Amino acid sequence: MERLPGFRDFYPEPLPHPDVWSADARQYIFEKWRTVAKRYGFREYDGPPLEPLELFTTKSGEEIVGQLYNFKDKGDRDISLRPEMTPTLARMVAAHERNYKKPIKWFAMPQLFRYERQQKGRLREHFQFNADLIGETDPAADAELIALLIDTLRAFGLTSEDFVIRLSSRNAWQDFFRQGGGDHAHEYDFFQVIDKLERTPPEETERKLSAMNFSMAKVTEFINEGNPTLELDTILKNLGARGLREFVKVDYRVIRGLAYYTGVVFEAFDCKGEFRAIAGGGRYNNLVKLISGGKVDLAALGFGMGDVVLLELLKARGLLPKFDAPMDVYVLIQDEALRPISLKLVHDLRAAGFAVDYPLTATKLDKQIKRAQELKVAHTAKLENDDYVRIRDTKTRDEIVTGMAGAKNHLG
Ligand code: HAM
Repeated sequence: MERLPGFRDFYPEPLPHPDVWSADARQYIFEKWRTVAKRYGFREYDGPPLEPLELFTTKSGEEIVGQLYNFKDKGDRDISLRPEMTPTLARMVAAHERNYKKPIKWFAMPQLFRYERQQKGRLREHFQFNADLIGETDPAADAELIALLIDTLRAFGLTSEDFVIRLSSRNAWQDFFRQGGGDHAHEYDFFQVIDKLERTPPEETERKLSAMNFSMAKVTEFINEGNPTLELDTILKNLGARGLREFVKVDYRVIRGLAYYTGVVFEAFDCKGEFRAIAGGGRYNNLVKLISGGKVDLAALGFGMGDVVLLELLKARGLLPKFDAPMDVYVLIQDEALRPISLKLVHDLRAAGFAVDYPLTATKLDKQIKRAQELKVAHTAKLENDDYVRIRDTKTRDEIVTGMAGAKNHLG
């Protein structure tokens, strides 16, 4: 039986095949995401992996709707696996926002599903670190979130030589569009053309723009000038005060594909341009209101960072640590008559917090020693009799014989 295309198997290291993914690397990434988010005062939340289809069809825009993993359940409901977390978050916040002091700072690490064409950096399932800040309109919030994004990437050892945050603003593009006489009804279509600029042949973009009475030359000029709006300038200064200015540049080619963004938008890319976006996000000040049917009106912003591109980048830059899981102690059982008391020792040491292994069945001593070496244990422990245990430091080869109760004091 084969796994589905675009899905992954995660194995413990060492990996048996280049085609599988590392469960250890995944865990490493999750831990870093969680640690940095907590340092910034973000609290963890989660929601259901399946949602009513409608949560995504009206709010995310056509790009995501085309990629939905949707079906009817046995109760004849139209449902979908979540392709992103933001609509779920908006729904959850709208339902219980009174319970929380503003601004709300929350993070999650959901597995998401998109029926995309499988390609480098894009699969049909990925894990995505989401950090969102709700209930604050001031650009200080945007700067705080971008600082979190930068520090998350730095926590993996990436530097300003490796990645850059491309900062942009839908407001800036909105002004450009409206001042250029654009028809309000086609604003999102225009945004879509800008979003695809880097992936579309210029003739095609030119044709689409002129259908909306815009010229490629004017668009290019606006991008090349790259004058930061007042809001972007405030964010840049805020990041500068933290010593993070070098990680950010204004780049109006970024506008983001999702429909709900309303203001500042940004994406993280590798500096060499080898990979797809590492992360993306922005302001979505109307989504909570839209999802709550007008009942709750809260400004919001956030970003999502996938594990797929991040892992590709860390691998390419040699920034993944070596994963092995050394155990603390291997309890050798030479005399099967001592197995019950050995099990007691194993159990006591585990209760004291040590990682302990031992032979499940009667095994020759040399095999046991080999296994202990493979597990890279710091110590072996062997019951000499019902009362005494011989502890050996596998590095120094020092040995000590001690009473059962005192064994743990020699394993630090
Ligand atoms: P997004 O740009 O669609 O934004 O996804 C964010 C990141 O998730 C991407 O930059 C990429 O790293 C990763 N990603 C997306 N699709 C795939 C895929 N098919 N395979 C692998 N990785 C993928 C959002 O999802 C927004 N909801 C983020 C957000 C949170 N905005 C505000 N709050």
